Amino acid sequence: MEKKNIDWGNLGFGYMETEKRFVSHYKDGAWDEGELTSDSNVVINECACVLQYAQTCFEGLKAYTTENGHIVMFRPDLNAERMANTAKRLCMASFPEDKFIEAVHKVVEANAEYVPPYGSGATLYVRPYMFGSNAVIGVKPADEYQFRVFVTPVGPYFKGGAKPITLRVCDYDRAAPHGTGHVKAGLNYAMSLYAGMDAHAQGYDENMYLDAATRTKVEETGGANFIFVTRDQKVVTPKSATILPSITRRSLMYVAKEYLGLEVEEREVYLSELEDMAECGLCGTAAVISPVGKVVDHGKEICFPSGMEEMGPITKKLYDTLTGIQMGRIEAPEGWIHRIC
Ligand code: PLP
Ligand code: COI
Repeated sequence: MEKKNIDWGNLGFGYMETEKRFVSHYKDGAWDEGELTSDSNVVINECACVLQYAQTCFEGLKAYTTENGHIVMFRPDLNAERMANTAKRLCMASFPEDKFIEAVHKVVEANAEYVPPYGSGATLYVRPYMFGSNAVIGVKPADEYQFRVFVTPVGPYFKGGAKPITLRVCDYDRAAPHGTGHVKAGLNYAMSLYAGMDAHAQGYDENMYLDAATRTKVEETGGANFIFVTRDQKVVTPKSATILPSITRRSLMYVAKEYLGLEVEEREVYLSELEDMAECGLCGTAAVISPVGKVVDHGKEICFPSGMEEMGPITKKLYDTLTGIQMGRIEAPEGWIHRIC
């Protein structure tokens, strides 16, 4: 199979239309079989629940070309499970988890020419999403839905790739206690846009959100969880009921313990502890592991000893091991790799 003639090495994290996408409709209490289509447009009623009341959710995962030329996806079962949990929280019809895996498989397979070659530094981002599609004017859930999947080849989420980034402690909240922070609802991202634009305008790469209730604990950023490395080489990640359960983070904690023999802790992390940390990183499907060099808390600079030039040594080991597993250089734990071809 010929790959598309794309400058893979210079891709940013952007949308590029590819050939095929999947669509399935939910009506009268059931999902149809679904199909691949070449039409990238979605036509819905002006009063569709998604347009009026933001009843929408999404997932994000990646497909990779491995060292020996296979195309694989990383842990799609966990995305299927998380989307079902999100759908439940948003009163949406949930898409069956086995059908979810089949759908993402089909879309990657149908767009194999867009899966970046091994070693190019790019990957194929897979975006499943779902929305309430029928007209709803009183505030209530829709009774018709579309589940869709498209793919787009992407490069690094943050410009500069593995260069450490700077965050600011944000005065806006991302998620309320007992709210929707733990699910992948579109509304969480809509309400982070203002804070994100404001951070960029002030010269920061991203926001560090704190827990809304006490504003003392580290939560996450707009699109990634945190991992920290303590000075005695423990890998620590914030535990909170209002952050998204990142699949990358869960995988990294396993890798840290089982592959690297490091001590790991999932616990509350106080902002006041950051000064004692040796390394900090953002982790997620899009972010992979993006090292954080500095956090600015209302003018006070917290600089991690790993500096602004490169990833800290433990972060680098985690990065190399995780990407090694994803690209087939390192043997994966049972069930982590879904082979397409
Ligand atoms: N946190 C938020 C708010 C996100 O949007 C994402 C991205 O999906 C993550 C964390 C990372 O999750 P994952 O590793 O499953 O991609
Ligand atoms: C992902 O990592 O898949 C996400 O959904 C994050 C998003 C901000 C791009």
